[in-house]
Formats: sequence, structure tokens, C-alpha cells
Amino acid sequence: MKNRELIVAGVMSGTSADGINVALVRITGKGGVTSPAARAQTSGVGGRGKPRGIIGHTIELLGHAGSEYPRKVRAAVLTAMNAECARVADLARLNFLLGELYAEAVLATQKRFGVKADLVGCHGQTLYHQGETTAFLNRKIPATWQTGEAAVLASRVGVPVVSDFRPADMAAGGKGAPLVPFLDYMLFRDSRIGRIVQNIGGIANLTAIPAGAADSDVLAFDTGPGNMVIDAAADALFGKRYDRDGKIAASGTILEPQLQKLLAGTFFLQPPPKTAGREEFGREFVRQFLRRCGRARKPDILATATALTARSIADAARRFVLPALRRQRSYREMIISGGGARNITLVRMLRESLLPLGLRLRLSDEFGLPPEAKEAVAFALLAYETWNQKPSNLPSATGAKRAAVLGKISYA
Ligand SMILES: Nc1ncnc2c1ncn2[C@@H]1O[C@H](COP(=O)(O)OP(=O)(O)O)[C@@H](O)[C@H]1O
Ligand SMILES: [Mg+2]
Repeated sequence: MKNRELIVAGVMSGTSADGINVALVRITGKGGVTSPAARAQTSGVGGRGKPRGIIGHTIELLGHAGSEYPRKVRAAVLTAMNAECARVADLARLNFLLGELYAEAVLATQKRFGVKADLVGCHGQTLYHQGETTAFLNRKIPATWQTGEAAVLASRVGVPVVSDFRPADMAAGGKGAPLVPFLDYMLFRDSRIGRIVQNIGGIANLTAIPAGAADSDVLAFDTGPGNMVIDAAADALFGKRYDRDGKIAASGTILEPQLQKLLAGTFFLQPPPKTAGREEFGREFVRQFLRRCGRARKPDILATATALTARSIADAARRFVLPALRRQRSYREMIISGGGARNITLVRMLRESLLPLGLRLRLSDEFGLPPEAKEAVAFALLAYETWNQKPSNLPSATGAKRAAVLGKISYA
């Protein structure tokens, strides 16, 4: 089955723990960058940014679907992420349960679009990620754990599954994250303009691709909270899972003094490489944030949480991307993806913050890639590379000492 053209199902569930995104893509290997995005931009191939190492593939999105975790599953996932109170038996069970849910999600998406995958790439649900080496029992080690049993998924769907992508990069000295820049580089590099590709999931992260970049020029890091603080505030103040379309935030006024204090936090000032998770912007951060806002109007608090995401993204671009590489790298655009791209208020705030930086905001939709499908497409691509025994980490993004073939394969 190791042929050039494969239909691959990418399966993603991110730190928001909101559910499962499945993307069905047809990937045709080799050749220049002829993805829909690259075609639309007539970029990449042949320009100054002639790829070194990474070749382009044709990536065609055949269909994608998102499904929310059932309420109790989400609660179990969030509990499992909170290492203090997780039980081993429950963690083991959750692994198998998620394998079943991923399989159902893939099968339902295949049915809906009348497409059958040859291969699945499943990121899994991250329960714990510590990209930096830390002392443990007299050794310094990094650690990561994505759950969702791939053997169950392979058995139910009937095709091989590539999963567990992060450890191989970490074994090669990398932080195991971010991995999506491999796709970003393939799709969005341009010989004439520099682009910042910004994903707004639970956490927000960017991939900066200067004009005419070689893959070693790519810079990627987490900018801070994406939807995580907004979601938690929507839950605490309004009993809602998220602020749909940013409607509540739109009716509020930003609490500027509180916002300025938050933006002066150490994470935002720290230069990249850096990663964030629930450790930085989870429960404890939100508790302090709500305390700081005191008895302000609830919509104002949500507007402030939304502005925190927008401004911290713009600050990261201004501080860490634009100055260093402005010389010949002409950054002009920020392309956003992730669920946060559907929050109209957040997008408006971000657009306003980018204007003075000379950056135009675009949605990944404009490149034929719906914001909610992007990460799932990325893991389909990574699975394709692994199946062909090709490396798919970007050492410049993860800090790895070498390129590595990522993941493990479970056979049906
Ligand atoms: N219509 C919408 N309006 C506002 N926010 C939305 C909308 N759709 C999705 N979101 C936000 O996107 C989040 C999910 O984003 P996602 O990219 O799946 O993150 P993750 O990768 O962390 O799972 C939701 O929790 C919610 O905050
Ligand atoms: Mg999600």
C-alpha cells in the first residue's frame, strides 16, 4: 500500500478538549507545492524559497467534520489532564474509550462524504506535555502523553493508523511541539511575502514563514491563550461552553488596566522558543483573572478575556517575529485557523491590532482550508510521511537535533 496517492483521515483533538475534528484528504506525493493554497497564490516552487529537504505534495481536502465530546467524556478528559486527581484505571479506560470515539468519528465522516480512507493519522488527546527536560529520579527527561488507543481505531476502521507523533521528535532532542508548522510551511510559504500562520485553538500558536524561506528559517512558538481563557470565563460567568460568535464579548467593553497587567505577564515577555498549556492558562490563571476583574460587568470581563488573546497574538508578532527578520522577509499577512477564527469579536480585535503592524488578517478558508480542519489535515499529512518512512518534524520549530520519522503504526 506504500504508493504515492493515498486518502488519509486526519484526526485531531486539541487542548480545548472540545471534541474531535476529522479531515479526509487525498495526498499525492512528490513534485512541487501544488496544494490548493499554493496554487491560489502561485507561490513556493521555483522562487527564492525553493524547498530544501521538504518536498511539496498535492493535498486535496475531500471532507471534514467536527463532533463534540459528550459532556461526561469532556469532564473525564479535563479531569485526566489534571494530574493531581487522575486515577490510573480511569486513564487506561479513557485510552480505550477515546479509541472507540475516534473510530466512530472517522467512520461517520467517511460515510457522510462517501470516502474511504487508506490510512489514518491520529494525534490523540494530550493529557500531559512537558517539552523541556526536567529532573526526575536523578535523570533529566522530557515527557509527553497522548491518549486514544490507535489499535482500537485501526481495528474498527480497518486500515493502519499512525499515532503518537510527538515522542520521536523529543527523543531527537526536540520539544515534541509544534508539529503543524510542517503543513504550514508546505502550504503557505511564498517567495515574495512573509506570512504568519496563526492557529487559535485552546492555546494560540504561530508559525512565521519569511518570504522565500527555507524550512530552517521557520520560527514557531505558542503566543499564549487562544480560546482557553475565553471558554473558561464563558463557563464561569454565563454557564456556556464558549462565547458563540463572540456575541457576549461584542456587548462588553475591554477593561484596559486589567488587560495591561495581564499582558505584562512573564509568559508574554519571554522570547521564543516557548510553549503553553493548561499549566499556564488553565484553572489557576482564570481564577486570578476573574479575581482581578472583581465586580466588573460580566460582558466586560469576557471582552477583556477576548482582547487578551487578540493583543497577545499581535504583541508576539511585533516583539518576536517582525523585528528580527524584517530585513528582507517582508511579512504582510497573518492567516488564522482554529476554532477561534469563528469568534467574530476576537477576529475583529485581532484585525485592529495587526493594522499598525502592517499585517493583513486572512482566514485559512481563503486558501481552501477551513479553520477547524487545519490541524486534522496536518496529522493526515504527518501520517502520510510516516507511512512513507519520511521525517516530518521541522527541527527549526521543535528544536530537535535532526529530522525524525514521527509516530507509531498500528495495523488493522
Ligand atoms: N462559532 C464559534 N464562536 C466562537 N468560538 C468558537 C466558535 N466555534 C469554535 N469556537 C471556539 O473554538 C474552540 C475550539 O477550537 P479548536 O481549534 O478545536 O481548539 P483545540 O485545537 O484546542 O481543540 C471552542 O472551544 C471555542 O472556544
Ligand atoms: Mg478542538
